[in-house]
Amino acid sequence: MPLCMTQAEGSSNPPDLALMAHVPDGKQESRRRFVVAAGAAGLAAFLAGCTSAGPIDGSSEPASDTPFGEPEVLDSANGVLEVTLRAEIVDLPWRGWTRVGFGYNGSTPGPTLRVRPGDQLIVHLENALDDDTNLHSHGLHVSPEADGDNVFARVSPGESRTYRYNIPPDHRSGLFWYHPHAHGTVARQVAAGLAGAIIVVDGLDDIDEIASSTERLWILSDPPVADSVDGLGAGAMDRMVGREGDVILVNGIEQPSIVTAAGALERWRILNASSSRYYRLMVDGHPLHLIGSDGGRIDVPVAVEEILLAPGERIEALLAPAESGTFAVRSLPYDRGGMGGMMGGDNSSDEIVLGTVVVTGNGSPASLPEALLDPGQLTVPAATAAREMELAMGMGGGMMGGDSGGMMSFTIDGETFDPQRVDIPTTLGAVEEWTIRNSSPMDHPLHLHVWPFLVIDGQSGSGWKDTINVPAGREVRIVVPFSGIGGRTVYHCHILDHEDLGMMGVIDVAR
Ligand code: C2O
Ligand code: CU
Ligand code: CU
Repeated sequence: MPLCMTQAEGSSNPPDLALMAHVPDGKQESRRRFVVAAGAAGLAAFLAGCTSAGPIDGSSEPASDTPFGEPEVLDSANGVLEVTLRAEIVDLPWRGWTRVGFGYNGSTPGPTLRVRPGDQLIVHLENALDDDTNLHSHGLHVSPEADGDNVFARVSPGESRTYRYNIPPDHRSGLFWYHPHAHGTVARQVAAGLAGAIIVVDGLDDIDEIASSTERLWILSDPPVADSVDGLGAGAMDRMVGREGDVILVNGIEQPSIVTAAGALERWRILNASSSRYYRLMVDGHPLHLIGSDGGRIDVPVAVEEILLAPGERIEALLAPAESGTFAVRSLPYDRGGMGGMMGGDNSSDEIVLGTVVVTGNGSPASLPEALLDPGQLTVPAATAAREMELAMGMGGGMMGGDSGGMMSFTIDGETFDPQRVDIPTTLGAVEEWTIRNSSPMDHPLHLHVWPFLVIDGQSGSGWKDTINVPAGREVRIVVPFSGIGGRTVYHCHILDHEDLGMMGVIDVAR
């Protein structure tokens, strides 16, 4: 239900034919923006928001008046970072009104936790929500058991739990993140704002070009806009497709603007913390020089015009502006599929401006680092075993009016999640090649806890990863070394509604 649609007047940007070609009929104006309200009370505020003009409404020039901002940074010292994260309901300023969301210590995203290899990260989680929650350190290679990254443990309302993450001394540096993982409540809690960054820094961050760049964090989210906790939910169809929110934010801010100078080097760490939305990122007039993915650095910078970021995925990229101007950071339309013919509704996203870069002056572009990592660190180890996995959607969820209220089932190898069952028994030291097949009409980003993998088919060259998009009807092959740490944890679709609906399995790596 588009309530407020504003359309650009003539554009002074060069027409982007490739871009226009991707815009479906009837949506030729690529600067259009759609805003959909969440509830009745939100509606009035939205309509008010429409007339009082958001940053880009009514202009082909991206707005450049909302400053870029980042969450507070909590840095480790002497090998330890000890923090309290209180998951709570928060009132957030919103277009001259207030919206309700979930946050950590009053903010969404939560504070950025900055640690080093060999550190211990201690988090005291307090649950001030009305529902169970818990904490997961997405992408960290740490023990999944006991008081480590244990996603089977739940924290009831009013309770707390202490997590101790022992980050190995050889842990790769990069962008990781934390979010709740209490099965059944994850999509709602993450969508409403519970997420934050974990940054691991090491010597790679001291390479000259990188050390002298301006580091920025981009946490992309699309929360529901609501005036009460009741408005933070999603209906059956939205849960099956994977809920998408009412607005897209960067670090909780609508269309922030970065001001930089020609000749400077911008270094962006970007996290897709949305529960279902995909972003096809690009910056007007500038390639993104990728230097890292989910699991750390790649070996040399790779220039791309655009990059797809599925839920849970991260990139680190350099931007080397050389000309003055205002450049939009966009997410281009992407069709991640839908429920298939029978239920109708595809799921293509519209193009949206996420933020802007205002470049002052003119100059030659900053030089890029030549090499980041010893390429040997990206060598695919020989597999000792092969495994096949099938991601599927079925009618098993009581379509004919059963208890599950017409929900489809979302399965891995024909099963929905059962915390008591071990789906993948393997052993420490094994190196497995997984062929992940998606037989459904919708993309599913598969995520494995604890053990990063290399992609050998599908999106190879992307470095170490922990989340990989498996497009509808296609397959992807990865190699996973189960090294260093054993234990029992999960793998799942990172469209978090699918995870909540059961598209998750248990893996046990025996020592
Ligand atoms: Cu980011 Cu198991 O999750
Ligand atoms: Cu994870
Ligand atoms: Cu999925």
